[in-house]
Amino acid sequence: MAQRHDAVEVIAAKRDHGELSDSQIDWVVDAYTRGEVAEEQMSALAMAILLNGMSRREVARWTTAMIDSGERMHFGSLSRPTADKHSTGGVGDKITLPLAPLVAACGVAVPQLSGRGLGHTGGTLDKLESIPGWQASLDNAAMMRQLEEVGAVICAAGAGLAPADRKLYALRDVTATVEAIPLIASSIMSKKIAEGTGALVLDVKVGSGAFMKDADQARELAETMVALGDDAGLHTVALVTDMSTPLGLTAGNALEVRESVEVLAGGGPDDVVELTLALAGEMLSAAGVDADPAERLRDGSAMDVWRAMIAAQGGDASAELPRARERSVVSAESEGVLTRLDALAVGVAAWRLGAGRARKEDPVQAGAGVEMHAKPGDDVSKGQPLLSLHTDEPERFERAVAALQGAVEITSGDPAYDPTPLVLDRVGS
Ligand code: URA
Repeated sequence: MAQRHDAVEVIAAKRDHGELSDSQIDWVVDAYTRGEVAEEQMSALAMAILLNGMSRREVARWTTAMIDSGERMHFGSLSRPTADKHSTGGVGDKITLPLAPLVAACGVAVPQLSGRGLGHTGGTLDKLESIPGWQASLDNAAMMRQLEEVGAVICAAGAGLAPADRKLYALRDVTATVEAIPLIASSIMSKKIAEGTGALVLDVKVGSGAFMKDADQARELAETMVALGDDAGLHTVALVTDMSTPLGLTAGNALEVRESVEVLAGGGPDDVVELTLALAGEMLSAAGVDADPAERLRDGSAMDVWRAMIAAQGGDASAELPRARERSVVSAESEGVLTRLDALAVGVAAWRLGAGRARKEDPVQAGAGVEMHAKPGDDVSKGQPLLSLHTDEPERFERAVAALQGAVEITSGDPAYDPTPLVLDRVGS
């Protein structure tokens, strides 16, 4: 039982740039989860943390307190090692879909507890729910069975995992306190440590379509999370990757599933394949398994695991995916090289077309989203289709097109176009 403290004193200590003691942190996280610390008190504390930061010790203790608010899972009884991947979220980031079956095909089990999309970044569960029949909810016994028999599970995190984070994340979302590095790091790592994975690879996104807009912030977030993982005995590695332009050629639920299946079939856009293989390589090496993931894409074994993984959760992997009823094309206004296609603008456009939600309880459209016909570095001619916008409700086109104002830059002549590398940095050993 944590020693009792006074919420106002805890808030004032952080407001005045103080360090919270272990006992204050244990108490405030536990008392907030139980409803004894009020929402307005926790929102003041979250804002003080955002403004004044936390030491490494405070973040580690805060993370442990959030883990202790719920259950911990264990995969030690499985016959193979486990590894998981977490992305901080981006536009067109469908990597989990090909990655989980690919890593499983290489002999490492992947327990991927995922979420739904909020705002302009898509959610893995929303994408998979566009597959007819597929179910996101599994109980722990079914999850363990699927991990043993198929090797990969992508499902909704149960309510018992880090309930303090569930409550705090919803509060941060409505109090402009999502962007605090100590709060993001403890939120992600409390869930991953409680989940019980044997190894963890983080994909920390940086750029207009990500939480972290600059490389220094992204590196700090990556280092904080890797240190939290290592302290908890969880082998953790982070890649810092570019999110200034969308990943692949699609942003939207069924559109992204279609593209992921292309990757599993040995094709797909180069950037999606590159990042999938880079993250797979990190997961395999963190789990201590020597295998060639590119070969598993070529020989069809990753596709076999995908089909089995979808079928195990009631889905029909060979069913036709939903398509939106209406389409509108955005064309190139001039000739030249496409030098910019802004990730945030494309994400907001996809969201406004119906692919994402503004509130947790809103429905999403399976077929809505943005299809890209050119990527930065490509030559384009005047009038050529650049983007196709998809939705069931044509009244949404106007606001989606408005989101794309200024998002596209075409440079005439022979510009020295220097592509941003996809993988910018690596943290961890
Ligand atoms: N994802 C999370 O799970 N938590 C955050 O705080 C941000 C992204």
